[in-house]
Amino acid sequence: MTLSKWLRQATAALAEAGIESPALESQVLAAHAFQVDRTQVLVHGEWPVPEALETLLQRRLAREPLAYLTGQREFFGHRFAVGPGVLIPRQETETLVEAALALELPAHARVLDVGTGSGCIAISLAHARPSWAVSALDISLVAVAYARRNATNLGVSIDVLEGDALDGALASVRFDLIVSNPPYVGDDDYLPPEVRHHEPPQALFAGEDGLDFYRRLATHGLAWLEPRGWMLLEVGDTQANAVERLLAEAGWQVHPATCDLSGIARVVRAQGP
Ligand SMILES: C[S@@+](CC[C@H](N)C(=O)[O-])C[C@H]1O[C@@H](n2cnc3c(N)ncnc32)[C@H](O)[C@@H]1O
Repeated sequence: MTLSKWLRQATAALAEAGIESPALESQVLAAHAFQVDRTQVLVHGEWPVPEALETLLQRRLAREPLAYLTGQREFFGHRFAVGPGVLIPRQETETLVEAALALELPAHARVLDVGTGSGCIAISLAHARPSWAVSALDISLVAVAYARRNATNLGVSIDVLEGDALDGALASVRFDLIVSNPPYVGDDDYLPPEVRHHEPPQALFAGEDGLDFYRRLATHGLAWLEPRGWMLLEVGDTQANAVERLLAEAGWQVHPATCDLSGIARVVRAQGP
C-alpha cells in the first residue's frame, strides 16, 4: 500500500476509534516509522508502507499513548524521551514552570522537584536558570533513569535522586523552592483509557480524594525549606481550594494561584514561615 492511501485509511480508523486529531496522529506515526519530519510524510505519498507502521497503528487503536509509541514528547520547547513507566509531560505543567521562573529567588537558588518523572520540570528550570542548583527526586527507578537520560540529552546538569518523598528522606537539605506535580488522581476520578491502562499508577493515584500527597508535602515541605522559601504545586482541575486550605492549616502563607491557559487554577503557590 502507498503512504497516501495508508494515511487516509489510518485517519478514518483513528477517527472511528474516537481519537482526537486523527489526521495529525496518523502523520506523526508515519513520520516516526520512516524517521522523517511530518512534512516529508505529506509530500511522499508514493512511498510503500512498511509492516511496522501498521503495527504502530494497531497499538494506537488499542489506546497506547502516542508519546509511548514515538518515544518522545515536547515540553517547554524541549524534546523529552518518554516510555512505559514514566508519566508523559502535560502541557498544563508548563504553567508550573512559568510560575517558578516568575519568582524572585537568589541567583544560586536551590530547587527541588518532587516526583520528577521524565525530569520535564527540573530540566526546564535548570535550562532557563543555569545558575540554580536543581535537584529532582522520584521513587520510580524507571523515572529516575529517564530524568537522567533527558538531562544528558538536553545538556543540563541536575542532581537526580531516587527516593521516597514521603519518608522525609531529605531531612538534612534546605531548598529555596520546592516544585511538584504530584500524583493527584482520586479513586473515582475518570481517566481516559490511554492514561488508566498505560501510564504508571504510582504517578497518578493519591488516595480516595487525590489529596494524600499534598497532605504529606504540607508537612514535609516545611522541613525541607529555607526560611520564607516557596512551594509551588500543580493541582487537579477542582483541587486548588482544598490544597490551599490544607497548606494554610499547616502554617504556610498562601499566595494567589496561577491559572493555566484554560483559566483553571493550576498552580498553588505558598511560602513557608
Ligand atoms: C504526576 S507524576 C509527575 C511527573 C513529572 N514531574 C511531570 O510533571 O510530568 C508524579 C511522579 O511522582 C512520583 N512519585 C510517586 N510517589 C512518590 C514518592 N512517594 N516519592 C517520590 N516520588 C514519587 C511518580 O513516580 C511520578 O513520576
